[in-house]
Amino acid sequence: MLQIAVLISGNGSNLQALIDARNSGRLQIEIVHVISNRGNAAGLERAARAGIPTSILEHSGFHDRADFDQTLAVLISIHTPELVILAGFMRILGRAFLDQCPCPVINLHPSLLPRHRGTGTYRRAIQAGDSEHGSSMHFVTAELDSGPVISQVRVPIKPGDDEKSLMRSLEPKEHGLVVATTELFCTHSVQCSCDAVIIDGKRLAKPLLLNTDGTF
Ligand code: GRF
Repeated sequence: MLQIAVLISGNGSNLQALIDARNSGRLQIEIVHVISNRGNAAGLERAARAGIPTSILEHSGFHDRADFDQTLAVLISIHTPELVILAGFMRILGRAFLDQCPCPVINLHPSLLPRHRGTGTYRRAIQAGDSEHGSSMHFVTAELDSGPVISQVRVPIKPGDDEKSLMRSLEPKEHGLVVATTELFCTHSVQCSCDAVIIDGKRLAKPLLLNTDGTF
């Protein structure tokens, strides 16, 4: 049973996808802790309903970024997870966090990395005239949205798509990506080494692409 902690900032629909996959028996996980950096995140209620311990850590009370980062790492350590998943967590974590976090950290980012790092990815993909958009899961490193990419899911950008319609078409696929990527950690050895993803001892040449059946 893989012990995971999930960090959120808002709605928590990706957290819900993990809870549902755990409840259905697809994922052999225990979600040991959900932490939000916003007290009003709806995802906190989803976690509480599922009987998962929750914490709120808002950055307003901290002197600086490193202070917040170190406290967050200590908070995570309490429940001794084997993997931390940032799922809709809207705060940049720096070296101070990574140095003290007790386990690997992966992030869900709504773009086909390395395209469109940072925020506003739906708008930027449409404005750039991209023919497709998607989401990526990657190991978190000290540089924003730049760690080695484990997996991706793609959706076409159709004529007339706007940010909202694109988000609507990507959201269910993104949930599938979070679940399938977490499943990968349950069933295989997945590591980050020298800026590469290593699965069962072999270097991943390119990100795994989610199939329409929700597997890689
Ligand atoms: C998701 O689109 C995720 O890719 C992005 O923020 C959104 C949050 O979704 N980082 P939710 O809170 O899991 O519903």
